[in-house]
Amino acid sequence: MSYAADTQIFTIDPDAPDMDAIRIAAQTLNNGRLVAFPTETVYGLGANALDADALKRIYLAKKRPATDPIIAHIAHNEQLNTLAVNIPPIAHELAQAFWPGALTLVLERAPDVPETIAAGLSTVAVRMPAHPIARILLETAGVPVAAPSANTFTRPSATTAAHVLQDLNGRVDVILDGGATTIGVESTVLDLTGESPIILRPGGVVIEDLRPIIPRVELAPKYLGRATHASSPGQMLKHYSPDARVMLFNGDDDARIIAHMQDNANRLTSVHKRVGILVTDEDAPHFEGLGVVKTVGNRTNLNAISHSLFAMIRILDGLQVDVILVRDFGRNGLGAALWDRLLRAAEGQVIRVE
Ligand code: TXA
Ligand code: MG
Repeated sequence: MSYAADTQIFTIDPDAPDMDAIRIAAQTLNNGRLVAFPTETVYGLGANALDADALKRIYLAKKRPATDPIIAHIAHNEQLNTLAVNIPPIAHELAQAFWPGALTLVLERAPDVPETIAAGLSTVAVRMPAHPIARILLETAGVPVAAPSANTFTRPSATTAAHVLQDLNGRVDVILDGGATTIGVESTVLDLTGESPIILRPGGVVIEDLRPIIPRVELAPKYLGRATHASSPGQMLKHYSPDARVMLFNGDDDARIIAHMQDNANRLTSVHKRVGILVTDEDAPHFEGLGVVKTVGNRTNLNAISHSLFAMIRILDGLQVDVILVRDFGRNGLGAALWDRLLRAAEGQVIRVE
């Protein structure tokens, strides 16, 4: 089964949103249909979070297994109380500090909220996005909007409307094109239902900024190398996989890693593989002539790297490379989120260069 729709696209200026288009999109949501819209992180594929049939359409359109829970997006703090119960005071403090923004809170789900949104879990994930188009859409629709990233299952998240169209043309009713998203990686998912707060997915709000408010916050065990199984539903390693095989390198010595990547590029080319190389501006000169080189920005500018990472992976996929060679961008700040996305693109395989 799939979901079929006559996809309509509206180009919208985030600074002066066309209210006619917003009203059509809001009406589409109220009718139980699907709207893709920009958030500050990535594009979302939205449906009325309180309509179980609409939620099913998300899973169908994305070809996503029904075991993968979806984030509910809200416009106002009061909506939080309609979605969650037994909300701990710390949730309000975090909302105060980071909303609207790239932080998703996992809380106890209110009984009226369809369990489909949480794939049967007793919890619900909630976030208030900051993007002006997302905000005005949510306000106009007047309902919380469930929205996973607007890519088909296993594809890199969509950071432009063109990416949404590539993946979902004919399977989403309306696409609001508000240009490229700013952050480029998804929100941080923070579980507040346990004894101490746990980051289920590192994202746009970095752990260093959470610590002053929740000093005990920790990354989920899988990020600390203590567990290999997925501890959060839908966080399986095969998630952001491009068509090409991703070879992820890391280690402590830059020169050795680069040399190792060069050797691999040469070896793969000699066996007639088409090699893509995804690197920072600083590394790029070392790979001239060794493959299709795409740069993600300056190594010191993690904002720029996260802004372009998914788009560059899609571009390399479009160029039909067989392999993408990439090395990590550190673990500090947004580096933690970038490492998570690279690790999943590489299906959990790391080539450690000693
Ligand atoms: O930035 C984002 O978070 C984007 C934009 C559109 O808001 N959304 C997004 O959604 O990335 P999605 O579905 O691709 O990823 C959401 C992840 C899921 O994979 C799941 O692991 C986690 O959030 N999640 C959602 N609900 C949860 C719940 N009730 N308990 C635990 N984890 C949950
Ligand atoms: Mg996703």
